[in-house]
Amino acid sequence: MNIVILAAGQGKRMRSALPKVLHPVAGRPMLAHVIATAQQVARARGVSANVIAVIGHGADQVRAAFSGRGDLHFVLQQPQLGTGHAVQQAVPWLRDDGPTLVLYGDVPLVRVETLNRLLDGAGDEVGLLTVELADPTGYGRIVRDERGSVRRIVEQKDASASERALREVNTGILVAPTARLKRWLGALGNDNAQREYYLTDVIAQAVREGVRVAAVAAHDADETLGVNSKAQLAVVERSAQRRAAGALMESGVTLADPARIDVRGELTAGADVSIDVGCVFEGRVHLADGVRVGPYCVLRDVTIGARTQLVAFTYLEGTTVGADARIGPYSRTRPGAVLDDEVHIGNFVEVKASRLGRGAKANHLAYVGDAEVGARTNIGAGTITANYDGANKHKTEIGADVQIGSNAVLVAPVKVGDGATVGAGSVVAKEAPAGKLTVARARQVTIEGWKRPVKKPKPA
Ligand code: UD1
Ligand code: CA
Repeated sequence: MNIVILAAGQGKRMRSALPKVLHPVAGRPMLAHVIATAQQVARARGVSANVIAVIGHGADQVRAAFSGRGDLHFVLQQPQLGTGHAVQQAVPWLRDDGPTLVLYGDVPLVRVETLNRLLDGAGDEVGLLTVELADPTGYGRIVRDERGSVRRIVEQKDASASERALREVNTGILVAPTARLKRWLGALGNDNAQREYYLTDVIAQAVREGVRVAAVAAHDADETLGVNSKAQLAVVERSAQRRAAGALMESGVTLADPARIDVRGELTAGADVSIDVGCVFEGRVHLADGVRVGPYCVLRDVTIGARTQLVAFTYLEGTTVGADARIGPYSRTRPGAVLDDEVHIGNFVEVKASRLGRGAKANHLAYVGDAEVGARTNIGAGTITANYDGANKHKTEIGADVQIGSNAVLVAPVKVGDGATVGAGSVVAKEAPAGKLTVARARQVTIEGWKRPVKKPKPA
């Protein structure tokens, strides 16, 4: 089937340099949602998807955002002379063997099931997705005859007072048999209030030819919400988040408050996972069975092992955490951090591009960067790996069962052998051998007979 996505409009009311359809909803451009839905519909129906996005304003940016996607075509509509004119630009790409579904790039929440119902309702004739609105202002109204059959669509600006009173509106989403649609598009005029070529005028043409027009109602008005402003973007975002929260709870996740979670990517979870309020999940995040996420954590592209606990205000990025670990409060990991099972990372500890072995601990105030830390090693408060000499990064290798005292500086490249102990306050710039105590700080001295200086008397 052909799927034409209209995405050429400017979105002036967004007041943004970013083309409207690239504004993110749940962490992905609106257009990406619509493309994914289009492909899922085709897959659900067992047919191939010929997806054509009609772009105009910000076309280069839109193309660039989807570069490398060989599974879609972009066609340019320049200038933008209306929704019918937009679909006309896609005509050379439309294959006659199968229907053409028209979607909007700025209506990102329409569901696969709804489109499936629309396609089923249309059969091989025309289907129109409609919705009843308490306030239909601005929308095209569905005009029916006395028998209840759809006759045509009239735009707000062209409607009479009695037509404006109609509350059943056009969502803009429709499906039509392709060969006929091409012919109808070819016959569109722009003799209307906006001097535009209206896609909606194909409905009257279909009726004239005796083609049945099935109006299929969207169950959920949220699905058909369009985005023309930042306020509408926020409404759509909340709706997307409600959906994500609902799906998580459906899959068994406990949410302290479904209204206070943000999923901006893909979050998957095992059994008995709980998530406290205010957490943000970005990219791909997986939480294994029994993971507990405390309040106000931010996780981006991370995998968390079973039963691990993330305590409040923890920020993890590009990190893999094993099972039975305890991270936070106030911990931060950066890309390339790997924390094995039973690791404990406490408050104000930062870990970057490092592996901490099973049961290793850094409970407070430490920086571990470009390091290997062995199993059961303990890193004292205030300890840092000095991994950067101003030009290059160097590695710190710390063995297993090591005790690093508080406030040590490990000047990389450097090694600390298995079972070594490093005295508090040491600046370790040479290898600290296995099994031994290394202390690298000035020896404590006490000066006998020392006197505090006394103030000179002020001259009179
Ligand atoms: C359109 C429908 C109206 C419907 C409403 C639902 C027409 C004539 N009217 O009105 O019946 O109730 O949507 O929101 O179809 N676009 C282009 N190129 C253009 C014009 C528009 O790509 O030349 C795209 C826009 O980017 C947008 C979509 O088509 O994604 C709808 O355009 P918009 O101007 O918002 O249509 P409406 O006038 O709101
Ligand atoms: Ca609109």
